[in-house]
Amino acid sequence: MAADIDKAGVAKAYARWAPIYDFVFGKVFAPGRYAAIIAAELACGAGGRILDVGVGTGISLPDYAPHNTIVGVDLSEPMLRKAHERVVEHGLQNIEALSVMDAMNMALPDGSFDVVVAQFVITAVPNPEATLDEFARVTKPGGEIVLVNHIGAESGPRWLFEFCFAPLARRLGWRPEFPFKRLSAWAEHHGGVRLIERRPIQPLGHFSLIRFKRL
Ligand SMILES: C[S@@+](CC[C@H](N)C(=O)[O-])C[C@H]1O[C@@H](n2cnc3c(N)ncnc32)[C@H](O)[C@@H]1O
Repeated sequence: MAADIDKAGVAKAYARWAPIYDFVFGKVFAPGRYAAIIAAELACGAGGRILDVGVGTGISLPDYAPHNTIVGVDLSEPMLRKAHERVVEHGLQNIEALSVMDAMNMALPDGSFDVVVAQFVITAVPNPEATLDEFARVTKPGGEIVLVNHIGAESGPRWLFEFCFAPLARRLGWRPEFPFKRLSAWAEHHGGVRLIERRPIQPLGHFSLIRFKRL
């Protein structure tokens, strides 16, 4: 298990990124974000309760259907401040709460969400498996965990590109080499979830949409 990511370092990095995050990453991550939101909406139907973990500046919030209720959590207070501003700016009525919380230890009751969404987060936490355990804990039976994330290439030109990009990625608290088998192995060992989808996000396939069903 990589112990190379420390929470304080990640929080410090995102405090610096908060003012320019949307400008730098808004477009790059948009296809993955839309795919995750569509998957979440389909999984919970109308009137669902969705937890967006690592909600950041709340860039996704206006895209959720107004008939679903959203709770957002993030480690970074400066990122969440941006999310609060966005809620006000867009007049969003379906945002139940935005709170500072560690994804690995959330002050939320068991089985309280139809869907847990984590967009570009699971490789930024110190212990992805324990964090996924926490996602499963707060998901209702029959609900879904929806991840969108970079998954490391195993070979070829994408591997080379990612190898060159790795130093910057590590400074953002990402693990550019993160293998898919960590996620599939987690699901197998957990016992209370089933992997139901892994789909590359176009155009380049650097990111994947991954869905787990809570049993
Ligand atoms: C790459 S950003 C993604 C933000 C947003 N989901 C998006 O799609 O743009 C990663 C976010 O995860 C948050 N984060 C990192 N580690 C976390 C943790 N342990 N608990 C909660 N949030 C965390 C960061 O503060 C940051 O806002």
